[in-house]
Amino acid sequence: RVASVQTCDPSSDSSDFKGEYANYKWDELGFGLIPTDYMYVMNCSKEENSFSKGSLVRFGNMEMNPSSGILNYGQGVLEGLKAYRREDEKIMLFRPELNAMRMKIGAERMCMPPPTTQQFLDAIKQTVHANKRWVPPPGKGSMYIRPLLLGSGPRLGVGPASEYTFITYASPVGNYHEGTLNLVVEENIYRATPGGTGCIKAIINYASIYKAITEAKAKGFSDVLFLDSKTGKNLEEASTSNIFIVKGNVISTPATDGTILPGITRKSAIEVARVLGYKVEERSVPVEELSDADEVFLTGTAMVINPVDSVTYQGKRTEYKKGADTVGHNIYEMLTGIQFGRVEDKMGWTVEL
Ligand code: COI
Repeated sequence: RVASVQTCDPSSDSSDFKGEYANYKWDELGFGLIPTDYMYVMNCSKEENSFSKGSLVRFGNMEMNPSSGILNYGQGVLEGLKAYRREDEKIMLFRPELNAMRMKIGAERMCMPPPTTQQFLDAIKQTVHANKRWVPPPGKGSMYIRPLLLGSGPRLGVGPASEYTFITYASPVGNYHEGTLNLVVEENIYRATPGGTGCIKAIINYASIYKAITEAKAKGFSDVLFLDSKTGKNLEEASTSNIFIVKGNVISTPATDGTILPGITRKSAIEVARVLGYKVEERSVPVEELSDADEVFLTGTAMVINPVDSVTYQGKRTEYKKGADTVGHNIYEMLTGIQFGRVEDKMGWTVEL
């Protein structure tokens, strides 16, 4: 069981938000951890098989048994969502119930008990509320919320852990990528295999691609595009985001058929694109289509919607349109408009804190 440092009631704490922001240079936000005041912790033993009431504790280091499922065998899933401060100072969440659902699907695949949707949503709201002085001022960024579901109990042999811990912490963030986005197609390392964990947010999915990312960065690229491991011919996704290619009025993205992460920004971008009148195809996208696409963009909670400057495949570099009159930009404007309250939320996607 994860021992937390100290339980406390943030409503009676002097650090609670009373209209003042945390002392931070908001113009300098990037995508790095800025420790906030509280995190939310909830435990579940295997016998109980459901989570008991959780609580807010001071953000900080945790104790964990060296033989825990997550430390030894990577039994864990993560989530990512954001809280947005609107011009009127209200704080909004974006489709948080979809993160709860995705965590449930991931938990099932990794043999873990999930928090209920209600428990998940309560944890998110309490975490953001307790840290609201860290939700950046309008126009300066957003608060990234990271729920984790971990096999925390000890188990030496391979198999599901004896106890589980759900943690949610948060950090203010700015852009995930700064500057130009130049991708390279990776032909030796694969992110996911059919029947594997590519379609859930398994913690093990990430460190396994560090080698590809590190090598690409050493060659001056910003990120990697992965191909399907079965044929090596079709696009899958980038290291932390889904990919879309645009040709004329048609937008294409790899179908979520088992190896692709069903991104919530991906889903929302597709829905926004259709409202804007674009045709969206979810299908196999052969890597060759990169060479005559007009635009390429990446989507993800951290990444938002990010236009790609270039993709290099087998040594050939293709450059793409970006900027004001592009399809990606139109989708970005509408989606972030809804998130930050600049565009009316006709979809009912935003949830006030
Ligand atoms: C997100 O976009 O929320 C992700 O999960 C990517 C992350 C691993 C940085």
